[in-house]
Amino acid sequence: MAKAKTVFFCKNCGVDSPKWIGKCPSCGEWNTYVEEVVTKSAPGKLPGILDFSNDRSPKAIDSINSESHPRINLKDAELNRTLGGGMVPGSLVLFGGEPGIGKSTLMLQIAIRKNKLRTLYVSGEESEQQIKMRADRIGVENSDCQILTETSTGRILKQAKEINPDLLIIDSIQTLFSDSIDSSPGSISQIRTCTSELLNYAKNTNTPVFLIGHITKDGTLAGPKVLEHMVDVVLQFEGDRNHVYRLIRSVKNRFGSTNELGIYEMQGSGLREVSNPSEVLVSNVEDSLSGVAVASMLEGIRPLLIEIQALVSSAAYGTPQRSATGFDLRRLSMLLAVLEKRCGFKLGSKDVFLNIAGGIKVDDPAIDLAVVCAVLSSNVDRPLSKNTCLAAEVGLSGEIRPVSRVDQRIFEAQKLGYKRIILSAYNKGIDTNNYSIDIIQVKKIEEVFRCLFE
Ligand code: TYD
Ligand code: MG
Repeated sequence: MAKAKTVFFCKNCGVDSPKWIGKCPSCGEWNTYVEEVVTKSAPGKLPGILDFSNDRSPKAIDSINSESHPRINLKDAELNRTLGGGMVPGSLVLFGGEPGIGKSTLMLQIAIRKNKLRTLYVSGEESEQQIKMRADRIGVENSDCQILTETSTGRILKQAKEINPDLLIIDSIQTLFSDSIDSSPGSISQIRTCTSELLNYAKNTNTPVFLIGHITKDGTLAGPKVLEHMVDVVLQFEGDRNHVYRLIRSVKNRFGSTNELGIYEMQGSGLREVSNPSEVLVSNVEDSLSGVAVASMLEGIRPLLIEIQALVSSAAYGTPQRSATGFDLRRLSMLLAVLEKRCGFKLGSKDVFLNIAGGIKVDDPAIDLAVVCAVLSSNVDRPLSKNTCLAAEVGLSGEIRPVSRVDQRIFEAQKLGYKRIILSAYNKGIDTNNYSIDIIQVKKIEEVFRCLFE
């Protein structure tokens, strides 16, 4: 028997090292190395290398036909759109999300939907009976779906090669193990090896594969970043704060844009596609409140709409209070000073409280204008006009400054059912014909107020 050999892996980027290191030389993260046993019982290939079985020769780019494999329609409009217009044959899609968010439900739904696809649904987490019970709740439309409860990639691929399905779903990558390597399921080297085996299967047979992946407490996909490099598409399934709606985003997509967003509602009988996203914000639309403004912000590269709430009231005693949750207090003071100086609002004797709904912390300066408008709306005690979203920075002299990635922000507001977005006039080159949402561009803070209230 081969001697047990241990290797240390970086949890963040997947780099290995023969000894423990405090700071990863590759990604620079501290304290990310974990020890794993990696004895090879059978001689195998190095993990992580895409193995094209036959010899390849270079081809002229014009001679390669990209249309020979049209995209596969999953019969799920939200998922199709998030993938960039359907599933690409031979693609490997990582589908991540927190436990209990509904990953298995959505994937099973795709498997048993009437989409003329022979699907192999492999589960390493649930028994056949559990899956059947869930399928009965959702309603089986497609009897061409095979269920396999298995965790060994060798046996899964053997079955897959026999059945030759149109779509392979793996629930989840963390439960799989490969015989070619000895470490336990869920460890970094196992995840990497299993993914590379499935990648080879996908590319060699041109079968699309969905991999369900778990998310760690800090919100990143469990398993190293190397997993994200290996797959073609990374989708993230997120819950929103009222826990009925679910958002599906693409974090990485080799075949389409990462701006797309799919929305679902969790019901008693599975996930329902929300094709008209303004339903999600119905509560906001019906009873407009004063002191509330919606900003289109970016979190990393992902656009997100957030609600900003402000309360302005007369200070009863002594020095007025300013308090901000999720927003920089000094920046709030600066914006209040701009309002006072440029617009003549006497906020000096008022308490101002600011809150970013949902408990998130925002650094993006693009929410400045929404902060100003929320404060103003609370001050005059009038709600802002319905369906208006804001995205601009406010400068010290009251000028409305442009923001980055403005198209993404507009698109997100439009996607979520807003009718109007207020932007800086200095954001040049916006093609209004591309959008159905009204775009209002302003130069100075005084101009904003004219279009704020109905
Ligand atoms: P699940 O798909 O098991 O989550 P994951 O695989 O991401 O861990 O989702 C389970 C949750 O969804 C569970 O809490 C119950 C809920 N659910 C419904 O509300 N309606 C349904 O029809 C189904 C199948 C699940
Ligand atoms: Mg599950």
